[in-house]
Amino acid sequence: MLIEKYFTPQWKTTGAKVINMNNTINILGIESSCDDTAAAVIQNGKLLSNIIANQSIHQNYGGVVPELASRAHQQNIIPVVDQALKLAGIKKNELSAIAFTRGPGLMGSLLVGNSFSKTFALGLNIPLIEVNHMQAHILAHFIQTPELPKSLIIKSETDMDFMSVQQLEFNNNGNTDAAIEILKSYKLGTNSPKFPFLCLTVSGGHTQIVIVKDFFEMKVLGETIDDAAGEAFDKAAKILGLPYPGGPLIDKYAKEGNPKAFVFTRPKVSELNYSFSGLKTAFINFITNETAKNPNFIELNKADICASIQYTIIDILMKKLILAAKQYSINQIAIAGGVSANSELRATINILAKQLGWDIYIPKIEYCTDNAAMIAITGYFKYLKKDFTNQAITPSPRYGLC
Ligand code: KG4
Ligand code: ZN
Repeated sequence: MLIEKYFTPQWKTTGAKVINMNNTINILGIESSCDDTAAAVIQNGKLLSNIIANQSIHQNYGGVVPELASRAHQQNIIPVVDQALKLAGIKKNELSAIAFTRGPGLMGSLLVGNSFSKTFALGLNIPLIEVNHMQAHILAHFIQTPELPKSLIIKSETDMDFMSVQQLEFNNNGNTDAAIEILKSYKLGTNSPKFPFLCLTVSGGHTQIVIVKDFFEMKVLGETIDDAAGEAFDKAAKILGLPYPGGPLIDKYAKEGNPKAFVFTRPKVSELNYSFSGLKTAFINFITNETAKNPNFIELNKADICASIQYTIIDILMKKLILAAKQYSINQIAIAGGVSANSELRATINILAKQLGWDIYIPKIEYCTDNAAMIAITGYFKYLKKDFTNQAITPSPRYGLC
């Protein structure tokens, strides 16, 4: 109680910085739940900038190493935020609030975003907004995005050495002013799902079918009882000797392969839940047996193996999604999270939409995988509700959706 009082920022008591809702609302979003350090600025729901610094250091270890991730976040966070503000053309004293990922995620990684956001909000005397990462993946569907050339989204391949984020990779030679003009002049997309809709949220740590009745009224209808779909992709890739994260590589090799070349048994899980650990074991056994017979099996069949495992994962995902749509009589169907970047998943859901009369909503690739634009848009909606938090807030690595 005492702590709460002590840490309650001044704006709450004086109201000095609570901005009139008719004014321009600038939200800085910060994401640091896993291995991407990201910052984005959203103005009245419209994305002005979206910066992501990847951490390539984990490739050598076959998965995210938590301690290395938090160190890289510490190095990256200030330059990433700086670039996000610059690209948005927003000065820090023009910010209305700071939204950050509270969880779920890795404790050390979350701590970096959490403590940076608290300090920045305190220093600027503006509200602080905590965001659930899984809710943000879903609300990414409501980002009003300028139709940009993809290269305008700055993506740096960095790990401990952050210098490369300075080498902005956009077409106009890294000219921030020009980029801002282009951002402002592009048409905004408005095609968002209508409530209620179902969202299949598939990421590295989660696999959920969620019924979304309103921005903040969501219920998990089914979820994985063990591994997540992204984990299934990454673990299969690891068995094939591919670097982390393996999902995008399986997607790439699968394009040349036959999805029916190898058949894997499907899990039997009740209701709308999922399971992927049995598939992982079956896949390990299959590869072990085949490579015992022929050491070159993986090299000779890489495309077919990738296409077959990808087909199986997608088939498992779609069967339960179809069931949920029938059970709840909903034809507004969305996908979200890193695995929704998968090209075959996107193609399959398009085919299903035609067969089953679904209206489908597929985010742009850059809003599927982890990003701060989704944190900023969630922060914007929370800002409108005046749903602020205080300086006593701590990370929540196992933060549930509802
Ligand atoms: O949402 P996300 O970026 O981070 C988490 O919140 O976990 O999801 C990361 C996951 C990883 O498992 C990665 O392999 C997977 O998304 N992923 C993909 C593709 N792109 C990312 N899986 C299959 N195909 C892809 N194209
Ligand atoms: Zn995520």
